[in-house]
Amino acid sequence: MRYLILSDIHSNQEALRTILSFVRRKRWDKVAVLGDVVGYGADPNQTVDTVRALKPMAAVRGNHDKVCSGLEEGEMFNRIALEAAMWTRKKLTRPNLRWLRELPQGPAVVDGKFAICHGTPVDEDAYIFGELEALNVFRRTDFPICFFGHSHFPVIFGLSADSITTVLTAAPSFRFRLKPGVRYLINPGSVGQPRDGSPLSSFAIYDSDSRVVSFHRLRYRLQETQQKILKAGLPRPLADRLAVGR
Ligand SMILES: [Fe+2]
Repeated sequence: MRYLILSDIHSNQEALRTILSFVRRKRWDKVAVLGDVVGYGADPNQTVDTVRALKPMAAVRGNHDKVCSGLEEGEMFNRIALEAAMWTRKKLTRPNLRWLRELPQGPAVVDGKFAICHGTPVDEDAYIFGELEALNVFRRTDFPICFFGHSHFPVIFGLSADSITTVLTAAPSFRFRLKPGVRYLINPGSVGQPRDGSPLSSFAIYDSDSRVVSFHRLRYRLQETQQKILKAGLPRPLADRLAVGR
């Protein structure tokens, strides 16, 4: 079975569409969404509609999904994120608001093969940036494989009997075969707002038969996304950061 893993789309319709046309040439069977479908970008309804049309077999909510749909008020958000969230809340149609509100809290186990969550499987709003956070999560859970998002950069943490290892790649395409006896926390990167210094959209495909995770980075029409953000009256830094991947 091949799973398309999408995280942190953030209302970026151009990036999402670019990925979907790219994967048309690849075989995939099911979609898993790791949260933050909306927030920041200017196309919340189009993005939710596109994700809903994919009929994800599993999806969990992100912190932006909660604030944009009114489940939370965003006390922890910075000014720019909060402004974008309140703008998004006003724009969302009732069915899309309801769909976002009903997204479950992670973790969710997919086909008994791996888990998905937004921030961490322990706390959906917490971040895994480095090995120390990863180690704490490994110790407090027992999932052999868990995909996570929220930090917006692609990374693999592996825990073996005696050490923890990190795999970071800057390649536009990267394949990694999971090793037996090692547990993994894997971030596919962000579809709509990468933050690893590259503006390229990021996602992964996991083949559960061969146990290979393929990461892909794609160029998309980000000027169009930026123009939409500015035209909508959303804060300019949200447009600027897309060009530099921050
Ligand atoms: Fe996010």
